Amino acid sequence: MNIRVARVDDLMGMQACNLQNLPENYTMKYYFYHALTWPNLSYVAEDHKGRIVGYILAKMEEDLQPGEEPHGHVTSISVLRSYRRLGLAKKLMVQSQEAMATIYRASYVSLHVRKSNRAAFGLYHDALGFAIHDIEKKYYADGEDAYSMRLSLKQ
Ligand code: ACO
Repeated sequence: MNIRVARVDDLMGMQACNLQNLPENYTMKYYFYHALTWPNLSYVAEDHKGRIVGYILAKMEEDLQPGEEPHGHVTSISVLRSYRRLGLAKKLMVQSQEAMATIYRASYVSLHVRKSNRAAFGLYHDALGFAIHDIEKKYYADGEDAYSMRLSLKQ
């Protein structure tokens, strides 16, 4: 299994992986926007045949309030079911976080996760040390609440 930065020709594979794994989906235009604007923040996990089995789609926050520090945001991450619990998601997160901190001087990374998503919450909270910053009521289209979570990237 290999982790590497996502290229434009990976975007269809990333979208296919997202469609299999999550109800939150995005237009191909939005994938391109990420890859072209922040080309070092999105990564893929590929198997020995070069097939994409996991991805992280990430960006820098664009709508900063006055005085707010630059910070990264994970738009989406997922790993195909038969490749889970191998440490791939953790590696994808760490790679992106390191790039956010070193290239863009991000002071923290944020994300949203469904309150019921125990696997992702375990990844963020237990494995990576994210804390719950807020609860956003009815954040998702089906009415489920989101945890807004953050991890400091300051040394
Ligand atoms: N239950 C509890 N803790 C878990 C679980 C789980 N099912 N899966 C991972 N973790 C935690 C554990 O602490 C794990 O370490 P361990 O295996 O040593 O116990 C740690 O996270 C690292 O796990 P990884 O193997 O790196 O995680 P994996 O590659 O399996 O991917 C993911 C985790 C991305 C959540 C996967 O289950 C998935 O694709 N789920 C469906 C899509 C999804 O929910 N994506 C996140 C949506 S939120 C967002 O995109 C911002």
